[in-house]
Amino acid sequence: MDSVDLIWKDGRFGQTSRRDAWWKDVLPVLVVFSLFLVYANWAAWQGTHYTWGPYLSPFYSPLFFGDSEHAWFGPRPSWIPAFVSPALLILWVPGLFRFTCYYYRGAYYKAFWADPPACAVSEPRKSYLGERYFPLILQNLHRYFLILACTFIVLLTWDVWKALWWKDAATGQVSFGMGLGTILLAVNVVLLGGYTFGCHAMRHIIGGKKDRLSESPALLEAYKCVDCLNNRHKLWAWLSLFSVALSDVYVRCCSMGIINDWRIF
Ligand code: FES
Repeated sequence: MDSVDLIWKDGRFGQTSRRDAWWKDVLPVLVVFSLFLVYANWAAWQGTHYTWGPYLSPFYSPLFFGDSEHAWFGPRPSWIPAFVSPALLILWVPGLFRFTCYYYRGAYYKAFWADPPACAVSEPRKSYLGERYFPLILQNLHRYFLILACTFIVLLTWDVWKALWWKDAATGQVSFGMGLGTILLAVNVVLLGGYTFGCHAMRHIIGGKKDRLSESPALLEAYKCVDCLNNRHKLWAWLSLFSVALSDVYVRCCSMGIINDWRIF
């Protein structure tokens, strides 16, 4: 702490004069997260180019309505306004799951709200109600979004399986195969799984009802797995963020004819 001057005032640390580059941890979060939000919003509102061959963009999965074979209930019904893309119907789940994530909260409170910008750097406001009051108390819904997010992992895994089956446009015959897109979608599921199953709230789901986990060997092992993933939660969070965006970019570029899918076999 030799590069930090702390002043204790009115029962709290007040103005400081950190001389180190404290902003270097905050700036990448601000820039990368902003870029992701801009891209994700743009992609979600497009409503086109989200499938190619057997691939379905993770931004649009599960696809409830649409013209693709991936659609669960067929074409979009007329009561859904045309401007509502299929992604808008489902993206609130992974979006709110990330928004309420304990790690991301810490990151975007600093980067976007300067609350505080960094440890021992004073805030631009005088009062802070914290997460015990509305609206931030709603962050506690995270444990429920976790359950919904787990179902998305199952559905995205199913998409990877479907990305292994190729339909011949001329004959209609389906054959087993793999393209670069299949691999990207599979890697995306692994990274999203590492992020989701390493959630802090998952530890509570696994072991919260037990006073002594050692009495339940299976639960204890599951808890250790969650713990292991949780130790790198920040890394899983960022890697899975990149992989979701990359998967969408890849499917979109294939669909738009900008790139050709690399068919491995
Ligand atoms: Fe990050 Fe739950 S704490 S996903």
